[in-house]
Amino acid sequence: MAAAPGGRQRCLLWAAVVAHVVASGAGFVEDLDESFKENRKDDIWLVDFYAPWCGHCKKLEPVWNEVGTEMRNMGSPVKVGKMDATSFSSIASEFGVRGYPTIKLLKGDLAYNYRGPRTKDDIIEFANRVAGPLIRPLPSQHMFEHVQKRHRVLFVYVGGESPLKYVTLPELPAVMVFKDGTYFVYDEYEDGDLSSWINRERFQGYLHVDGFTLYELGDTGKLVAIAVIDDKNSSVEHTRLKSIIQEVARDYRDHFHRDFQFGHMDGNDYINSLLMDDLTIPTIVVLNTSNQQYFLPDRHIESTEDMVQFINNILDGTAEAQGGDGLLQRIKRIIYDAKSTIVSVFKSSPLLGCFLFGLPLGVISIMCYGICTADTEGEVFEHEGAKKESGDRELTDEGSEEEQEEEKNAKYTELSDGELKQKDIMEKKKD
Ligand SMILES: *[C@@H]1O[C@H](CO)[C@@H](O)[C@H](O)[C@H]1NC(C)=O
Ligand SMILES: *[C@@H]1O[C@H](CO)[C@@H](O)[C@H](O)[C@H]1NC(C)=O
Repeated sequence: MAAAPGGRQRCLLWAAVVAHVVASGAGFVEDLDESFKENRKDDIWLVDFYAPWCGHCKKLEPVWNEVGTEMRNMGSPVKVGKMDATSFSSIASEFGVRGYPTIKLLKGDLAYNYRGPRTKDDIIEFANRVAGPLIRPLPSQHMFEHVQKRHRVLFVYVGGESPLKYVTLPELPAVMVFKDGTYFVYDEYEDGDLSSWINRERFQGYLHVDGFTLYELGDTGKLVAIAVIDDKNSSVEHTRLKSIIQEVARDYRDHFHRDFQFGHMDGNDYINSLLMDDLTIPTIVVLNTSNQQYFLPDRHIESTEDMVQFINNILDGTAEAQGGDGLLQRIKRIIYDAKSTIVSVFKSSPLLGCFLFGLPLGVISIMCYGICTADTEGEVFEHEGAKKESGDRELTDEGSEEEQEEEKNAKYTELSDGELKQKDIMEKKKD
């Protein structure tokens, strides 16, 4: 038997490899290079894009090796890799990597960013959830509890006999959503079709709202009632508004949850630019994301009752809507955006601001000046001016002359011969 020694050798070799892998712990994390782009096609990949010099990346490395090992041990189809994003920067930027470390799950054309805590369990949970099937069976009470703990909002279909003892269902099959520390059963008559119900119920009753969430909330068609506060300010005005909204979200859910989403927003920068207004915080604002209208309370909200009154006024149309998506608002938006761009450039870098906005103004005024004075004593002024020019000005003048020259040429090519001559004559007259 000739094959036997070869087989044993291979066994030994494998044993050595395994021993090595276990020792280093890095064996199940593939080091990726340019070829990754071609080779990844059919697989699902969990990739850590790192930079060799970055401290957070170094901290992640042992965790990442554990993730690789555990994913392999679990028999997960997800492959784990890491890529030096500084060496393969073009690939990294193709995947939208901007900071380090960036963790992404790549599945066909889709790339999912991981933004959670950088611990083994959280990362693995993310990978399994995103890579796995959209619907997973929950065969036991234990499994259900495990999954429920990890999801703030969980939709469950209950078919035959349910092992969920503490859930009372009027009939089977049923669909439920578990969130906000309780559960709600889908009712076809009251809630309309299932997919739009899921769309409306996929957020917790009360949220920390940021720009991205607000954009997502737009899909639900609900009005968004938010306390705009400073999260770091522990004074009573700020915390009170937040708890009022929380209370309304919880205690008046049955009344308002079909039409309203509740939450708070930290800081007023985002909301100001959205509303093109200057809200002083803390305040409460209700947004209609469907038509970009918003409502501000006409007096201080001191209690839950005030807030409920305010919401009822919005619902019965007595509260005055502001903003909207009409033509006037769109014009206002253009002006507002231009203004805030200029302001933010000046704020972040006054010098750049002067350069960007001052330079064209300067060039234009020099040109105007030139045109206005050209017919009279232009020559004298121009000569004197040229002597005093600083280096900068000379440069810009040259630039503008060149541009003018180019412009002239461009115009000439568009003119017919006769017109060209006429222009020539006029030009000579000027000279
Ligand atoms: C907290 O908010 C109050 C009321 O808006 C304000 O007067 C106070 O200056 C704020 N405190 C800090 C530390 O920002
Ligand atoms: C919100 O906007 C939609 C779309 O324009 C409109 O139908 C709805 O009545 C608005 N809701 C309120 C409370 O103004």
